[in-house]
Amino acid sequence: MDRLVISGGAPLRGKVGVSGAKNAALPLMAASILSLEPLVLENVPPLGDLGTMGKLLAHMGGSVRMSSGGDPGTPETAVLDMGNLDKPEAPHELVKTMRASALVLGPLLARVGRARVSLPGGCAIGVRPIDMHLKALKDMGAEFDLSGGDIVAKAPGGFLRGAKIRFDTVTVTGTEHIMMAAALARGTTVIRNAAREPEVSDTGRALVKMGARIEGLGTDEIVVEGVPSLSSATHAVMSDRIEAGTLIAAAAAAGGKITLTGAPLSAMEAVLGKFGEAGLVFEILANENGGREGKDLVVSSPGGRLLAADATTMPHPGFPTDMQAQFMAAMTLADGVSIITETIFENRFMHVAELRRLGADITLEGRSAVVKGAKKLSGAPLTASDLRASAGLLIAALAADGVSRLSRVYHLDRGYDRLDLKLNLLGADITREKE
Ligand code: EPU
Repeated sequence: MDRLVISGGAPLRGKVGVSGAKNAALPLMAASILSLEPLVLENVPPLGDLGTMGKLLAHMGGSVRMSSGGDPGTPETAVLDMGNLDKPEAPHELVKTMRASALVLGPLLARVGRARVSLPGGCAIGVRPIDMHLKALKDMGAEFDLSGGDIVAKAPGGFLRGAKIRFDTVTVTGTEHIMMAAALARGTTVIRNAAREPEVSDTGRALVKMGARIEGLGTDEIVVEGVPSLSSATHAVMSDRIEAGTLIAAAAAAGGKITLTGAPLSAMEAVLGKFGEAGLVFEILANENGGREGKDLVVSSPGGRLLAADATTMPHPGFPTDMQAQFMAAMTLADGVSIITETIFENRFMHVAELRRLGADITLEGRSAVVKGAKKLSGAPLTASDLRASAGLLIAALAADGVSRLSRVYHLDRGYDRLDLKLNLLGADITREKE
């Protein structure tokens, strides 16, 4: 197991590229199941979680080719050919390491009419059931049994039917899951209270390139008219708004001036707004690649201390829960008191106790963290509990005086494209060592 050794105190300066989005690439890889022809995904980041999804597709009989990674920010291409799919199963070993493995259930039912998928358990950030996914698939005609911890599913007659679905609460992967299943269902599916996250729209756009008929992407009502088959397509995965936000949070905490290339700006309004409130200054410059998202984002810290700002996590276009830990890390050194409220997950404050070890002044009151800006943080040994918590701890360690050691860094590697190397390109002092 690796750990990171972080010498804090250096401001960040320089330019880095933003990688492809994990949370778009995951459903996109699952979407390959829907077609007998290859799906080519460009701009795929080299991440642990995507390797797990690749293993799962290969386990089911697919051919998975992923080009090897280059420098941080260098995109990879994945060629996913599920033409020979012969084992519609997601075993426990793979589902337990990554909950998003459950996303193969609907596509398998839609394509081959049966599936056996291990039921995902809870995880560090909460119970995270998939009851709404299963209820929606049931509404589309699927039948389920539970056997040995696995969901054994079938679609009577070998196909799913279009249905009117209304999610009780907004679910990101739930929306992606049902949209994929509905693409090959007989008839029309209407998804109400659909998630508006940009990763849902990116998945939808790729499905449309494969021949799916989908309307309403980016709104809370998505309508999918099922088609008999989908074909080959090439799609570039959108860039990662959470990675971009994490780098912004690092610049906020450590100070300095950084430039991000390829940040998906139109998907980042809430995050840019919040860091703007805290005193960061943003400038958008045209770069040589052109295009709406081909702009450079220059992020400058105010020089003095950040200003405290409150944030409440909400479904998109609200402030993302996946940025809560990183924003909190930046607020630990802000001038004043910030109230950070988590409304999406019940247990996503695992980083709080670790931030306190650095000297942060945070108290928990139910779903809110009250963060009083400290004068300084001092390096300490830290343990990562989940992906975004690790990013928050890394950011706070960059702003702390002295050396911090961050253990269990595999959490970070599951979902960030070599964040430590990218931060070093910006002047941070982070080394990796074996624990
Ligand atoms: N929920 C249910 N039942 C369901 C589905 C969801 O009760 O059937 C609850 C969840 O427990 C949670 C809330 O509904 O309290 C919203 O969860 P959602 O389904 O939207 O989350 P998700 O789809 O499992 C995705 C991302 C998460 C991100 C959330 C919220 C992927 C692969 N994962 O999870 O990303 O936090 O949406 O935006 O897209 C991360 O990248 O670190 C991460 C955890």
